[in-house]
Amino acid sequence: MKVRMVSDQLRTPNSRLRTSPWPGIIEAYRSHLPVSPVTPVVTLLEGNTPLIFSPTLSAQAGRRVEVYLKYEGTNPTGSFKDRGMTVAISKAKEAKSMAVLCASTGNTSASASAYAARAGMRSLVLIPSGAIALGKLSQALIHGARVAAVEANFDACLALVKSLAQTFPITLVNSINPHRIEGQKTIAFEICETLGEAPDVNITPVGNAGNITAQWKGYREYYRLGRIARLPLMLGFQAEGAAPLVKGKIVAKPRTIATAIRIGNPASWQGAMAAAEESRGFIRAVSDREILEAYRLLAAREGVFVEPASAASVAGLLKLAKSGYFGALKRTGSRPLTVVCILTGHGLKDPERAIKSIRLGKPLPPSLSVISKAVGLK
Ligand code: F0G
Repeated sequence: MKVRMVSDQLRTPNSRLRTSPWPGIIEAYRSHLPVSPVTPVVTLLEGNTPLIFSPTLSAQAGRRVEVYLKYEGTNPTGSFKDRGMTVAISKAKEAKSMAVLCASTGNTSASASAYAARAGMRSLVLIPSGAIALGKLSQALIHGARVAAVEANFDACLALVKSLAQTFPITLVNSINPHRIEGQKTIAFEICETLGEAPDVNITPVGNAGNITAQWKGYREYYRLGRIARLPLMLGFQAEGAAPLVKGKIVAKPRTIATAIRIGNPASWQGAMAAAEESRGFIRAVSDREILEAYRLLAAREGVFVEPASAASVAGLLKLAKSGYFGALKRTGSRPLTVVCILTGHGLKDPERAIKSIRLGKPLPPSLSVISKAVGLK
């Protein structure tokens, strides 16, 4: 494949647009990120995702608790990975790398292949065969990644890409690449700016554990700079069948319907444990049944469609709410407790799961009486 030089294309003529659009996370947070004036900014204008108040979850969490949803599904490729990828790919381009490589449960590969396409770089992707959602696979393919479906799980794919990156001159863009963590920490900045303070509690799904590590880094940086006056409790939720951090040992055969977090040996193990311990939070597990309940509730009651892995944070919140956890937390003054659940990816990533969850009736004849009865109007 011929690789074009695209540095000119990367400069967007935003100055000629009528309104000033959101510039993407690198321009929005340049002074907090490892970029310099010579770094070519590869962006799809990621970030600036909505923080949506959730009336249903707030009511379930208890008195004077406000629950917000940080909906990362609105990022350009439909997941939080774009925050890290804009930095990782920009730095790879700066280093004149011709190709990037990752192992993925789907979203990293979707993001890496899109940003690599934008940068005029090749992307190579290893995925566990048969274990990633269709939407994500379609993204990697259409963006032109070389996709290898491997007969192994994500952990084995990650070990393989680490070896490949040592042997060949390609840039690894999994979250062991520190530029990914740098970009992903911006989610914490946005949450603090929108709320005007850090939340009391930050709840996130945990798989390879880069995201919780990055969020904690972001909060700590804003705290050190005096932009926020307190730090949140960091709570992480893994799927029960893929919960190495909860069990304290590697899970050789991770199992869960939440394929994005089907991971038995997280790369950022220590980062996740540090986030939980330093913030006096914890990492716990939720069952697939709890994940699917939260998945359906978010879609049916809040109008927010996420992929199953993303619903792990809300499943965790609901489980804690039932045990009276939020009511028992210490509060300062009379202000309500603020809880943010991170919703990591869009529901359209995995349409098969939605269709499996809710039964669609048989096709009907085009008859008014049959149809009105079928849709409950009679
Ligand atoms: N939610 C979604 C939708 C994800 O795709 C991932 C990770 C996570 C949560 C967990 O984040 O790994 O930083 O703890 N997906 C990776 C991938 C592993 O390959 O797309 P984490």
